[in-house]
Amino acid sequence: MLRRPRRNRKSESIRSAIRETTLTPANLVSPLFLLEGENKSEIITSLPVASRMTLDFMLKEMESSMEVGIDKFMIFPAVPDVYKDKTATYSFADDNFYLRAAEIIKKEIPDVTLISDVAMDPYSVDGHDGLVLDGKIVNDQTLPILDKMAVAQAQAGFDVIGPSDMMDGRVESIRTSLDQAGYYDTSIMSYTAKYASGFYGPFRDALDSAPKGGDKKTYQMDPANKKEALIEAELDTIEGADFLMVKPALNYLDVIHLLNEEFELPIAAYHVSGECAMLLAACEKGWLDYDVVMPETLMSLRRAGADVIMTYLAKSFGEFYYK
Ligand code: PBG
Repeated sequence: MLRRPRRNRKSESIRSAIRETTLTPANLVSPLFLLEGENKSEIITSLPVASRMTLDFMLKEMESSMEVGIDKFMIFPAVPDVYKDKTATYSFADDNFYLRAAEIIKKEIPDVTLISDVAMDPYSVDGHDGLVLDGKIVNDQTLPILDKMAVAQAQAGFDVIGPSDMMDGRVESIRTSLDQAGYYDTSIMSYTAKYASGFYGPFRDALDSAPKGGDKKTYQMDPANKKEALIEAELDTIEGADFLMVKPALNYLDVIHLLNEEFELPIAAYHVSGECAMLLAACEKGWLDYDVVMPETLMSLRRAGADVIMTYLAKSFGEFYYK
């Protein structure tokens, strides 16, 4: 036998020298759920690694995360029903607790990178990402609402705007509005290929944001489609996105790979709530070993081509990495 691939696996010293893919806390983003008020932190039953918390707890969470190298956060608001209406006006209201929290976070911990969520669903009585008129999710009338939301978020200090709504033309519309308001340096991380997935369940539990009627299939992508992701990625690139995101992540490794091959922009992968929940549940039962499968899972996303990974396991990986 002239070729023996096992020679290159014979010690950790050699294995570590030829490792093709790296994963460090710098690649990770930690999604956090914000509650209004203070001194509240509630565990999410279907996603035991995450909590909904008020700003005081969130600041502490960010500080402890930064100690293990996690400095990028995505914030999602749990909006009380009384603030919800048809047109999501609270999303850009002056006294919006989500916007004011971002302002305080950037003042207290200027080194964090804050990523927002742009979509109507947390603020809408209909629970849809776009405006609902006569039972339809209308595209073009949604755009000005998203624009106002994005500009308000940029003004509050968010470093990166994250449109997760899947309306057509929203990246161009948001980019133009941000520029007109003078926010040239505010980035856009577009949810480019966001699929109509069953894996968002625990997230919707956390925010009580499930659609009140129907489903999201007229705007989120069909899980059967891959070429369509190329169309979305091309549009987002032309429209001025800075990052292209694939979501969910694990069942869509082929899509991550494809976009990374075909496009120059950095690729983000969202390891979503349901994907995390599956792993946690199996580990809790003792069926899988968390310290092995957690880094293996995140590494697989890097190997597929993701530069940035949003995962509820970010802090846990940081702790593991520095152990
Ligand atoms: C809403 C939004 C969703 C997620 C991020 N932003 C849910 C949805 O589209 O219904 C899901 C994230 C997760 O499951 O972790 N615009």
